[in-house]
Amino acid sequence: MVSSEQPRIQWLGRWGFMLAATGSAVGLGNIWKFPYITGEFGGGAFVLVYLACILAVGVPVMMTEIAFGRRGLGSPVDAIRRVVRESGRSSAWSLIGWMAMLCGFMILSFYVVVAGWSFAYLWKMLTGGLAGSSVDDMAAVFEANNANPWNLGFWSTLVTLLTMLIVGKGVQEGIEKSVSWMMPGLVLMLALLIAFGVFSGGFAQAFSFLFSFDAGSLSSEGMLAALGHAFFTLSLASGAILTYGSYLPKGTSIARTTLSVAIADTVVALMAGLAIFPVIFANGMNPAEGPGLIFMSLPLAFQAMPFGTLFGTLFFLMLSMAALTSAISMVEATVSWLCDNKGISRRTASWSTGIVLWLISTLAMLSFNLGADWTLAGKSVFDWLDYLTSRLMMPLGGLGMVVLAGFVLKSETFRDELGLAPLPYALWLSMVRYVSPLGIVVIFIDALGIYQVSFAAHWPLLLAILVAMVALGEALSPRLRPALQARRAL
Ligand code: PHE
Repeated sequence: MVSSEQPRIQWLGRWGFMLAATGSAVGLGNIWKFPYITGEFGGGAFVLVYLACILAVGVPVMMTEIAFGRRGLGSPVDAIRRVVRESGRSSAWSLIGWMAMLCGFMILSFYVVVAGWSFAYLWKMLTGGLAGSSVDDMAAVFEANNANPWNLGFWSTLVTLLTMLIVGKGVQEGIEKSVSWMMPGLVLMLALLIAFGVFSGGFAQAFSFLFSFDAGSLSSEGMLAALGHAFFTLSLASGAILTYGSYLPKGTSIARTTLSVAIADTVVALMAGLAIFPVIFANGMNPAEGPGLIFMSLPLAFQAMPFGTLFGTLFFLMLSMAALTSAISMVEATVSWLCDNKGISRRTASWSTGIVLWLISTLAMLSFNLGADWTLAGKSVFDWLDYLTSRLMMPLGGLGMVVLAGFVLKSETFRDELGLAPLPYALWLSMVRYVSPLGIVVIFIDALGIYQVSFAAHWPLLLAILVAMVALGEALSPRLRPALQARRAL
């Protein structure tokens, strides 16, 4: 075990971790993905389910992940294996860690393409490439940017290079500092866009689109998308938060840190929604436009406002920075695993990961031009990478983690690591044992079409299942406890 020989690097206290975790959580997920999937799945009801998933699944899973990382001091694979062994359980559980590591890597392979869009738009802002006065003009700019593989490939390659360069340098340098000015800057730019929306029309319509909850309007697929996005936006089940947690000093409150990160992340996403939809409605654009949504709408707003070029440049600069601080967290798990297990330097680990990443991301990039026809079941490489990670791997990984923490491991492990007072601890435990797993399983069953769950009609049934789960879980655990205590006494 390398970590017992060398002290592991640590963040500069709670603040450093919080900046880095916020940097990981706040990214293209909040500003690019949240608005466009909210548009695709019809608005308010989607937003409500997403918020419920953040609270009922995201927050408990995030606490669990950070605790796994700090307890196991390593990449997801190593950390989970150590924590599981400590409880005398099978190391096969570290499969969850393997999946998380793979997941972070797969996400990065399409994330660099989107981050590349942001960099390209920063350049266009600076050089006047975004002149145009209608949605159609902007759609043409977006399409032209994608159509040329050399152009698009240049930007995604640039992002890959920058990411691996920063990761190669180590965890602390740069991340904490850049997040501490990028976050306030981003919030300021969003506030500016919201103010613009209020004065230039479309705001009322945007507000009601985002916050009027029409329960019937959400499809099963939309529910799964909302769950998946809760994982994506908080960087869960993809190795990022767990690995960052392994650098968190003992004695820092995991619960408080988690709450701050989750609140910051949610505020930025909602602000992004309030900034973007007024522009969409004021210009008669279709909210379900898809992945190009913000790139086709926001430049129009910047064109119309005073000092638009300056603000637009600043906006895309912050967005690109936010994308980078997320991107580096996605490969941190893989790089840290390579360093700890293969005895190679951080730099070598980072560059070799970068080469594989570049190959896969090139395939994702080609989905927008040469490889537009390379589809399977109607989805391109880019779509598959997104779909598999958000809709499948992250919810499953999260389920594995809460089941492990709630039922399989010794209760002392998490009681020590979380260091919570009895009441908050009981709340966390009931979330990871019952509420989060039930939420994930129900949404899966619904999405697979095995059984259509209408929440309005089935809430008594769901409540009954929850009560039955609690009864069963609590009936079993007293039997587990003496057995575990006996094992410890040996
Ligand atoms: N949370 C990041 C975002 O919203 C994306 C991310 C996913 C980062 C998984 C790390 C791991 O942009």
